[in-house]
Amino acid sequence: MDRIRIRGGNPLKGRIAISGAKNAALPLMAASLLTDETLTLTNLPQLADIATLASLLAQHGVAISMNGEAPQGGHSGRALSLTAATITNTTAPYDLVRKMRASVLVLGPLVAREGRARVSLPGGCAIGTRPVDLHLKGLSQLGAAIDLTEGYIEARAPHGLKGAHIVFPTVSVGATENLMMAATLADGESVLVNVAREPEIGDLARCLIAMGAEIAGVGTDTLRIRGVKRLGGATHAIIADRIEAGSYAIAAAITRGDLELSGVSVELFEAFLECLQRMGVAVMPTADGLRFVCSGNELVGVDVMTEPFPGFPTDLQAQIMALMTTVSGAAMITETVFENRFMHVPELCRMGANINVHRASAMVRGVPHLTGAPVMATDLRASVSLVLAGLAARGETTINRVYHLDRGYERIEEKLAACGADIERVRGNA
Ligand code: EPZ
Repeated sequence: MDRIRIRGGNPLKGRIAISGAKNAALPLMAASLLTDETLTLTNLPQLADIATLASLLAQHGVAISMNGEAPQGGHSGRALSLTAATITNTTAPYDLVRKMRASVLVLGPLVAREGRARVSLPGGCAIGTRPVDLHLKGLSQLGAAIDLTEGYIEARAPHGLKGAHIVFPTVSVGATENLMMAATLADGESVLVNVAREPEIGDLARCLIAMGAEIAGVGTDTLRIRGVKRLGGATHAIIADRIEAGSYAIAAAITRGDLELSGVSVELFEAFLECLQRMGVAVMPTADGLRFVCSGNELVGVDVMTEPFPGFPTDLQAQIMALMTTVSGAAMITETVFENRFMHVPELCRMGANINVHRASAMVRGVPHLTGAPVMATDLRASVSLVLAGLAARGETTINRVYHLDRGYERIEEKLAACGADIERVRGNA
């Protein structure tokens, strides 16, 4: 299994091209099931999760082709064409769904187009129980009959889905995406209330509209979707990955460096940028992105609470915690989205961090310096928080289970090394 080895202490300086967003790309790929025409997605990140979903879609009968290398230093990325001319199989098997929970996003499109789907229940995961009850309740409100048998969700709507008024009791990104996709082909109007407003939802809505869907209220907490008989093909550019960008912004801050991130804009993550600024990081717009300058700045701890967008993203909680361990003063970090998303805490403490967790909050007290150590993490964002801590720590840090990082960070060691980090990937048995 690959490992990442870091010798910490180098302030990062340079420019990093931000890739297309993983969490936008996955639902967009699932949307290809809604039409028999070709959906082409550009700015596609090259990640393990994208490959997993491509395998799942291929076994549903989707023809997939990929072309275009990422241009030097740019971020227009690769183009993926998906054509679901005929859906040959409506089952999403356990072996693929258990690898990646986002596989459940094929449920809505399959039922909407084929009138049936059999999708493995995803099960628990390292950051929480993560049920899919909101996806299922919404689909049944759209008229699907839902049964849970032998670990599978069986959904049937032989006469098609019917528009409905659906109020989400809690905000869910995945349920909003699944039901928005399903409602585009339902008979009549659907109103989805208390939907998630993450930028990736807006990106999906814009692509569906380009495919012929009728969706109003994009960017608000209520979506009105008038079902259409069929959707067509489209070409859509995936938005920049705000979580990748936030992670590299923290790399600049934690090494007291100076990084320009191209391809990102303020509205993707205002709450996060405000937090960095309050800590003492200078954030400046550039011609095609944002620059984060921390050289010579004294950074201070500030309290953070994760919330659905436009709040501070849970997917940047582990990374901001790594930063807080290295600044003056204390910070209270409260996680409100997932119930078990502090798995990085014991590993950060092994590197010398001072963190106390009480229920959903972690009290972080800054220490003069972190020290390198062998560490491992149980999920993607926890892993990257250890990379960030390693960049700042004295001595050598080895991060095990790099496959977590490869799910969501494209060429992370290359991007960081190009800006002066002493980082390398140690292959398999080395
Ligand atoms: C998406 O997961 C992201 N994944 C996650 O990114 C992200 O952390 C999360 O949204 C929150 O922003 C993708 O976009 C592929 P939710 P999702 O449904 O859709 C509860 C990463 O690191 N809930 O918004 O699964 C749930 O348990 C990841 O890239 C229900 O109770 O998240 C959680 O507590 C990890 N019932 C909360 O809602 C449901 O039916 C929010 O989950 C659905 C969700």
